[in-house]
Amino acid sequence: MIGPLDPIARFAKIFEQAKKVVTPEPAAVTLATASADGKPSARVVLLKGFDERGFVFYTNLESQKGKELKANPHAALCFYFPPLYQQVRVEGRVEQVSDAEADAYFAIRPRGSQIGAWASKQSAPLASREQLEADFKTVEEKFAGRQVPRPPFWSGFRIIPERIEFWESRENRLHDRTVYSRKKGGWVVEKLYP
Ligand SMILES: Cc1cc2nc3c(=O)[nH]c(=O)nc-3n(C[C@H](O)[C@H](O)[C@H](O)COP(=O)(O)O)c2cc1C
Repeated sequence: MIGPLDPIARFAKIFEQAKKVVTPEPAAVTLATASADGKPSARVVLLKGFDERGFVFYTNLESQKGKELKANPHAALCFYFPPLYQQVRVEGRVEQVSDAEADAYFAIRPRGSQIGAWASKQSAPLASREQLEADFKTVEEKFAGRQVPRPPFWSGFRIIPERIEFWESRENRLHDRTVYSRKKGGWVVEKLYP
C-alpha cells in the first residue's frame, strides 16, 4: 500500500492531527526561496490556507522573499511536526493570490496586525525600535476611526505544488518516503530510499 492517491487529502489529514498536538504554531512552516541567480534563503511563515490549488501564506511584497519570488517564482515549503515525527515537503511554482482573496484575509486580521503591516517596511534596515513604534503610531492616527485597508505592498502567495513528499519515521531508520509528482493533471506516486 503506497498511501492515498491525493497528496492534498493526505496533507489535510496530517495537518488535522498536527493542530491537536503541535503547540503553539502548527501552521509554522519553513519557506525557501531563491534569488534570480540561484542563491537560496529560508525563513518561517504561517500557512494560511491550502486546497487543491496550492498552499497560501501572506507577506510584504517588498521583503527579501517578496522580491525573490517576483524575480524567481519558485519556492519550497518544509513542514516538520515534532510530536508526529513527520515531515512534508512541497515544491512548486508560485503565484500571487488575487486582490479579492488578499483583501478578504486582511480584513479578518486583528487591527493591530493591519496597522503593523502598513508600518513595517519588512526586511529594510531599521534605525531603532523607537522608529518602528513611531511609524506604528503615525499609521494608527492616519486610520483612526475607520477601517484599515490592505496595503498595496502586502499580499499572499500560493505555491502550486509540482512535488509533495511525505516522510514518516520507521524503525531502524528505514523511514517511509512517498513522493507525489504532478503529471498531466494527475499525480504519479513513488517511494524513495530513506
Ligand atoms: C512562527 C513565525 C511565523 C511567521 N510568520 C510569518 C508570515 O506569515 N509572514 C511573514 O512575512 N513573515 C513571517 N514571519 C517572519 C519571517 O520568518 C521573516 O523574518 C520575515 O518575513 C522576513 O523575511 P525575509 O527578509 O526573508 O523576506 C514569521 C516568523 C516566525 C518565527
